[in-house]
Amino acid sequence: MRFPAFRHLAALTALGLALPLGSALAGDEPAPEDVVGALEKISGVHAGLRRNHAKGTCAVGSFQATEAAKSLSSSQLFSGQAVPVIARFSLAGPNPAVPDTTRNPRALALQFQLPNGELHQMAMLNTPVFGAATVESFYQRQLADIPDPATGKRDPEKLAAYKAKFPDSKGQGDWLASHNPPPSFAETAYHSLNAFKFIDGAKHERWVKWRFEPRDGVHFLSDEELNSLPKDFLVQRITERTRKSPVQWDMVVSLGEPGDPIDNPAVAWPAQRKEVKVGTLTLTRAGNDAVGQCEDINFDPNVLSAGVEPSPDAILAYRSAAYAVSFGKRLDEKAK
Ligand code: HEM
Repeated sequence: MRFPAFRHLAALTALGLALPLGSALAGDEPAPEDVVGALEKISGVHAGLRRNHAKGTCAVGSFQATEAAKSLSSSQLFSGQAVPVIARFSLAGPNPAVPDTTRNPRALALQFQLPNGELHQMAMLNTPVFGAATVESFYQRQLADIPDPATGKRDPEKLAAYKAKFPDSKGQGDWLASHNPPPSFAETAYHSLNAFKFIDGAKHERWVKWRFEPRDGVHFLSDEELNSLPKDFLVQRITERTRKSPVQWDMVVSLGEPGDPIDNPAVAWPAQRKEVKVGTLTLTRAGNDAVGQCEDINFDPNVLSAGVEPSPDAILAYRSAAYAVSFGKRLDEKAK
C-alpha cells in the first residue's frame, strides 16, 4: 500500500499519541506500516522494543542555554533557565543484539521539559549525513537488508543493486566505512541532519542545522580495539563515565545561507557556515543508573516548542508517521 506523504504531523502528547493534523504533500511514499514491516523482517520482531534503534540505553540531565541562543529563537529551550532532559543513546538498526563494534550510526535522542510546560524533542545521529535523501530510498535500503530465507544472510547482490540505484546512500556509507565506531557514546558528535527553522522574538526566521559536540572529544576505536572488544561495552562505559563526573556536549547551530538544501538530510551544508554555540547538555546519570527513564518515550523529532519549526523535508515529516507505528506496536506488546 502506498500513501501520500503527510507533512506537519501534530506534536505527540507526553505519552506519545500521534495525531496527524496536516495536509498531504505531493508525492507517493510507502506506507509507514510497510517501512516498519520491512525493518521487522531484517532481524525479527522483538516484542516491546523499538523497530529501529532497538538497542539503546537511557540517561538524564539538563540543558543550559547561552545568552547568544536567545537572539536566534524565542523557544523556551533558550530561556536561560536550566531545562530537565531525558535522553536515549542507541545504535541504528532493528537488531537489539547488534554488537557495539558494528559500523552503523550511533544516536542520541533528547526530550526537554521546558519551563512553560512544553516538550521539545530531538533525535540525532553521529554521521555527518543521513543514508537516504528520500523515504523511498530508505525503504529500498531496508528491503535490501532483509536476509534471504535460503541462506539466512543478506544478499550482497541486492545491496549492490540498491547502492547503484540510490547514490544518495554513498555519503553516509563512505563515512561509516572510513571511520571506526566511537569507544563511548560520550566521545562522538550528534547531528540534527534534518534542517529546522528558528524564529526569534521579532519573528525573524532562519534555517538551521545543529550538532552536539562532546566535551570528552571525538574519538574512534582503533582497529585492534574493534577486533578485541566484547559485544556489549557501551552501556557499561557510559554508566561508569557519568559516575565519575557529569558528561557534556555543546549544542552548536549552523546558520543556513540561501541555496543550502533544507529538504535533504543526505547532504551536509558547507563547513564555512556561521556557527553559534546555543547551549550545553549535561548528563548526570546514564545506562545502569537510568534504567527505564526513556523507554516509553516516542522521540518524534517534530515535537517542537514555539520558536522552532520543521523544514519542508519529506523525511522529517515521515519520521513522525513511522515512529508512531513503531511506538504503537511496542506499547501494545508491553500492555499484553
Ligand atoms: C524515512 C526515514 C526514517 C524512518 C522511516 C525512521 C524510522 C524509525 C523508527 C521506526 C524508529 C523507532 C521509533 C520508536 O519506536 O520510538 C526510529 C528511531 C530513531 N531514529 Fe529514525 N527513521 C528515519 C530517519 C531518521 C533520521 C533522518 C534520523 C536522524 C537525524 C533518525 C534518528 C533516529 C533516532 C535517534 C532514533 C531512536 C530514538 C529513540 O532513542 O527512541 N531517523 N526511526
